[in-house]
Amino acid sequence: MDTKEGRPDKEEKPELTAGIGDGALDPRTFDVAAVRALYPALADGHAYLDGAAGTQVPSAVIEAIAGAYREGIGNLDGAFAASRRSDAIVAEARAAVADLVGGTAEGVVFGPSATALAYRASDALSRAWTAGDDIVVSRLDHDSNVRPWIQAAARAGVTVKWAEVDLVTGELPTAQYADLIGPRTRVVAVTAASNAIGTRPDVAAVAELGHAAGALVYVDGVHATPHLPVDVAALGADFYTTSAYKWSGPHVAALAASPALLETVWPDKLAPSSNAVPWRFERGTLPFADLAGVTAAVEHLASLAPAAASGVSGAGASPVTRRDRVLASMKAVETYEAGLFARLLGGLAELERVTLYGKAARRAPTAFFSVAGVAPRAVAEHLAAQGVNVWDGDNYAYELCTALGLEPDGAVRTGLVHYNDASDVDRLLNGLADLAR
Ligand SMILES: Cc1ncc(COP(=O)(O)O)c(C=O)c1O
Repeated sequence: MDTKEGRPDKEEKPELTAGIGDGALDPRTFDVAAVRALYPALADGHAYLDGAAGTQVPSAVIEAIAGAYREGIGNLDGAFAASRRSDAIVAEARAAVADLVGGTAEGVVFGPSATALAYRASDALSRAWTAGDDIVVSRLDHDSNVRPWIQAAARAGVTVKWAEVDLVTGELPTAQYADLIGPRTRVVAVTAASNAIGTRPDVAAVAELGHAAGALVYVDGVHATPHLPVDVAALGADFYTTSAYKWSGPHVAALAASPALLETVWPDKLAPSSNAVPWRFERGTLPFADLAGVTAAVEHLASLAPAAASGVSGAGASPVTRRDRVLASMKAVETYEAGLFARLLGGLAELERVTLYGKAARRAPTAFFSVAGVAPRAVAEHLAAQGVNVWDGDNYAYELCTALGLEPDGAVRTGLVHYNDASDVDRLLNGLADLAR
């Protein structure tokens, strides 16, 4: 059990399913070789296992961004064609993100990062908080879904309650939320997936408890979105953030909410800027060319498993929508990545000196581990010298790393994404072998 000063045990070796984990999915469903060919950066021969910190982008995204500039764009709402093109780019990007997460285009707010959007949201929402209210945050979350809320709470004189992680399993137990959430809870902030140990909490159950008490539920979907089909309604997310640079797009983030909810919130804004939703939440001029890239990235995700879309339930005789294609593609991505992740976990479990953190039942394909006696940065440097890109540090999973006793150096993170293949995983495992066996 818990033998390492509060740290989880080394993960047990998972059983490998025949044909899974070697990239051998039916190519009509997901063809990783074809997908990899879409990414120019992968041609440098490195094993890009750093996707959890940001993905490479396919040619279609690069072309969409360059194409917007090439064609000519202007600021919004002008009388001339280049301005109209920017109007269209913004509308298309809102629709694309809505298709990606199951939201409403008019409820999609763009911003420079999920962190900036969390600060905007917490700043605006906290104006309605009064002493005696409380908020609930979790120690599983990236700090961007923690610090903005507790700083806003401090300003408003509001109590902060903490949902704790089971350090042995890496789970965020749902049951504790029944005690944490009460009639004065204003916001429950929780992640859809940990960017460190991959845990996918039962957000829908947490949201149900939050809503029963009248709280708003703010879900950090930054790490989850690239790995699975997302449905904000099914999650019960009043707010859902996602960053396009984690799913093959540019460095732009989005906050998805219902337009009706956004209508009830007033952020600080300039006097002449639009008072309308979602515009009033967007400060200054949007990055139009990058937004063209956001739409291209969603289209890319929707096209990953084209054959699967025709089998989407309910599609029947009606035309297959982009939302249908997103759901089918992301289901195929989830299955493909799960196979690859099993291969990775199986390999890590065989390395004597590796301690793996977290073994949650539902996980994004992200492994966080230490090598006994070797600093995380030294492990990353050792792998980098072999052309294998991984992250070291706390990856801003600051509360979790503090609880695990891993601050300040953190651990090593390997984040699989859909363009990784079995050879990437094997190169990592081989690269670790001399350090960790
Ligand atoms: C789970 C999670 N939330 C939030 C963030 C912050 O996103 P951004 O860089 O868009 O602020 C990250 C970035 O790594 C993340 O992984």
